[in-house]
Amino acid sequence: MTVVVVSNRVVSPKPNAPIEGGLAGALLPAVRDAGAIWVGASDRLSSGKDPLIEIEPLGEGAIARVDMPAEFYERYYEGYSNAVLWPAFHSRTDLIRSSQTDYTAYREVNAFMARSLLRFTHSGSAYWVHDYHFLLLADELRKLGITRPIGFFLHTPFPSRNIMLSVPQHDELVRAMLSYDLIGFQTEDDLTHFADYLKRELDLEGKDDTYVFEGRPVHLQAFPIGINVQDFAERATKASAQPEITRLRASIQGRKLAIGVDRLDYSKGLPNRIRAVDRMFEIAPEMRGSMHLLQIAVPSRTHIPAYQELKQEISQLVGDVNGRVGDVDWTPIRYLNRSYSQAALAGFYRVADVGLVTPLNDGMNLVAKEYVAAQNPLDPGVLVLSEFAGAARQLDSAVLVNPHDIEAVARGLIQALTMTIAERRERWNAMMAKMKDFALDAWFNDYVAVLMDCRKPARVVVTK
Ligand code: F6P
Repeated sequence: MTVVVVSNRVVSPKPNAPIEGGLAGALLPAVRDAGAIWVGASDRLSSGKDPLIEIEPLGEGAIARVDMPAEFYERYYEGYSNAVLWPAFHSRTDLIRSSQTDYTAYREVNAFMARSLLRFTHSGSAYWVHDYHFLLLADELRKLGITRPIGFFLHTPFPSRNIMLSVPQHDELVRAMLSYDLIGFQTEDDLTHFADYLKRELDLEGKDDTYVFEGRPVHLQAFPIGINVQDFAERATKASAQPEITRLRASIQGRKLAIGVDRLDYSKGLPNRIRAVDRMFEIAPEMRGSMHLLQIAVPSRTHIPAYQELKQEISQLVGDVNGRVGDVDWTPIRYLNRSYSQAALAGFYRVADVGLVTPLNDGMNLVAKEYVAAQNPLDPGVLVLSEFAGAARQLDSAVLVNPHDIEAVARGLIQALTMTIAERRERWNAMMAKMKDFALDAWFNDYVAVLMDCRKPARVVVTK
């Protein structure tokens, strides 16, 4: 049975282009191996009414890139998706910039994507929609007469009810989401927030996480996403010999290396991370001259003012620490504002003694999992991880920190940099064992199995 996977971002058609973000990186191997069709936005816009779609084979499956409507795309992506839903879902209500025009564009693009998907309506297919860009898509597909199973997976957190209420269109959005048969979340906390909204705002009571809305059952379930641990470990081992990695190793001259790799996004906690490194040099002056932080911050959503302001803030903070703490032969923070291939990143992770992953709020955070998978089993590095990343549920043997507590992050970093090899190995083994239980292919297959089950007659619940 063919699954049609839908997400706004798909991997770039350019060979060797860096993968942008966790969703695309995670879906690529899953779609390729499962023989699914992956539909998303192309990098072109179109002004015609009919969707223009370019299809290319992808492993066992295919990738279909749709030219999105020029009239609405910017307001849908930079406007409603990333200046209303993204900040709200990451509990940054102060950054919500809402306008009715943007919401209209969001609705138009969801309806347009639904029409584009008609191209893939052949018997036996189910749809699996990813992320907050397409909350309305199932509703639009149902309007077009689609009766096949339609699932949704949210890669970001789902906020508490109170925060969700700050989204002006929350009622319409959540009601439309209930046109999905299956709604997947990264964590039980996200599911609980959504269920709480259903109970208190829509007066819906669930049984075994299944709710009946307008006579149809909707099932909620947490499916924590993982990575292909073995593949990533092999990639890291192979990358070690690459010139870029050799240059990095040579340049640190035996000093310790901590690494951070993030999209340049306010949810990632970058200013606090820099402050924590600064604080560490105060409480452990012996670290001066003996460690570097390599912070890669990949440009993201660069037209949105909140992202532009964040970029300024980080540049200033880094400049301040380097200027004040650095020396003629030592720059404490190497700050790079660009993206790297997954192969290069795997190699960087293997060289680094510490992985610093300290988001203020994050659906899962696959960098944390990749950092662990990339380590040398004989001499593994230490992961310092925010307790507010979904990954902390599985990686509870990391050094867990509260990213709002600068002092705690600074001390966590010192603990990681000075940890004995015995403790490093013990923690690493525990994390690897957990990660193998949450592999990417199992995530994909488990979700699809539950989705396929959704519209079987036995599950249909009849209401009064
Ligand atoms: O869930 C959020 C997410 O889709 C991530 O998986 C990914 O890292 C990021 O957003 C990509 O954002 P964008 O498509 O806006 O670059």
